[in-house]
Amino acid sequence: MRKTLLLFMGFVIAFLLLARMARAQSPAPKARAAEDGLALTPPMGWYPWNEFGQEPQNENLIKEIADALVRSGMKDAGYTYVGPDEGICFSRGADGRLTSNLARYPSGLRGLGDYIHQRGLKYALYTDAGTHTCSKAMPGTEDHEFEDMAAFAGWRTDYLKVDWCNSGGLGHNPPPTRNVARDEVDVTAAYAKLRDAQEAAGRPIVFSLCSWGVGEPWKWAASVGHLWRTTGDIAAPGKANWNTAMRNTAANEKLSTAAGPGHWNDPDLLINGMDGLSETQNRSFFSLWCMMAAPLMASNDLRKMTASAIQVLTNREAIGINQDPLGIQGHIARREGQAEIWAGKRLFDGSQVVLIFNAGIAPVEVRVSWSDIGSAESAALYVRDLWTHRTTGPIRGGITVTVPPSDVALLRISKSRTFPLPPVIVADSYWLSFRAPAPGAQKFSGAVTVKTTGSDDLPLWQVRPGLPSWLSVAVKKHGKIQTFSNTISTAGLAKGQYHAVVRADNIEPVSGLPMSALYYDVDLEVGGGGGHTGR
Ligand code: GLA
Repeated sequence: MRKTLLLFMGFVIAFLLLARMARAQSPAPKARAAEDGLALTPPMGWYPWNEFGQEPQNENLIKEIADALVRSGMKDAGYTYVGPDEGICFSRGADGRLTSNLARYPSGLRGLGDYIHQRGLKYALYTDAGTHTCSKAMPGTEDHEFEDMAAFAGWRTDYLKVDWCNSGGLGHNPPPTRNVARDEVDVTAAYAKLRDAQEAAGRPIVFSLCSWGVGEPWKWAASVGHLWRTTGDIAAPGKANWNTAMRNTAANEKLSTAAGPGHWNDPDLLINGMDGLSETQNRSFFSLWCMMAAPLMASNDLRKMTASAIQVLTNREAIGINQDPLGIQGHIARREGQAEIWAGKRLFDGSQVVLIFNAGIAPVEVRVSWSDIGSAESAALYVRDLWTHRTTGPIRGGITVTVPPSDVALLRISKSRTFPLPPVIVADSYWLSFRAPAPGAQKFSGAVTVKTTGSDDLPLWQVRPGLPSWLSVAVKKHGKIQTFSNTISTAGLAKGQYHAVVRADNIEPVSGLPMSALYYDVDLEVGGGGGHTGR
């Protein structure tokens, strides 16, 4: 009995000591995406920089690109975020506030956002953490972080790239927690302050840090944003550069352990579909970005794409490995001469991806053994070629492939003959707007329809509680299509503008992992007065 008591006391003391030690070590900061549910798979969309640079960016170009994104099938393939980069979008007024450049963006930046949201796309904008953007054509956020993030929220921004030009910044580890003073000018402090300012502005935003690797963001930025540039620019505007693409690949490949759902290494925008890249290089480049779980932000002129460029950019089987819910970044497992054998990318259904990239100028023959993917040589496995879309097998031991120069073999290997695709969400609109001509009890309704492209249906989307009293949302499921029915009741509302952001959550049924949260905006105007003020 005494022995048992002593043992018990020993356990209690050990437990208390361990608890104290755990408290003393500062806990790893929580990934920002754990709260907002954003970008749990790598963001997909379009930014203008690689093809256009600064000068031709204006409202018309962005609208035409948004339309082309829908028309080309890219929206259905998952590309969502779209908007100007350093496109002389705004200036700072005498009162310190940002105002849209109406000469270039006549609808105002809010108007452009509405256009994009109405097409079921999400709105991306750009700014800088220093005094000015890179060309100095636009103000940066330095010393204006809180008012600027409020302006971006007012414009209904969903994704914000924040550059690091004219900042004079240093690296700093670990990141400061909250509300650091601006005189500690370093990269982590500056971006952490912008995170605080975004949170204060109250709009969920995908935060894309663009310090080109300065300050080693892969070590700390998961608690600040959702993705971070790991490299310098991939191209000077107008022409793809294969050598810089390979330089960015090599640097980004080394950082594979930092990537995961909601926190991604970003080796820069895609160069697919641009001048200066062969058909083979287009395919290889896209395969590498998919294998690295890199953001798929196209940057070519979507209004005039060749059939082959569209085919590469919309290859759903390649996109499927990029958008895999486990979010693993593959890496080079070994090299054979000029051939790189990439592995380490397990997918949600237990299958594995192997990428053989021939970086040389002569064809290579490579043997992939099942031990390369952690399977027994005796296993009978199926091999799916993600570019020819053919399945072979079952095969034991491994396979031998021949890869032409600059080309790839992108293979998915599985015990099962079926190769399911993860869900990709496509909405008909991310914005509903209602006008009641006068105060008094009136009812309105409107729907947002969300379809899933992928092998499996999703469970019902769960709307977060806490909607304002004038709005209620019910979700109905018809297979892969789910409809969000919004009922608006103006009873008891005074004249004025009302706004709500609806959030819904879901899980991926095969892996059981959370999916990126779905957000859309609902506006209500009671009693006329007209127009929004978010210019
Ligand atoms: C930096 C960024 C680019 C682009 C330009 C705009 O160079 O890395 O992606 O945004 O600024 O000037």
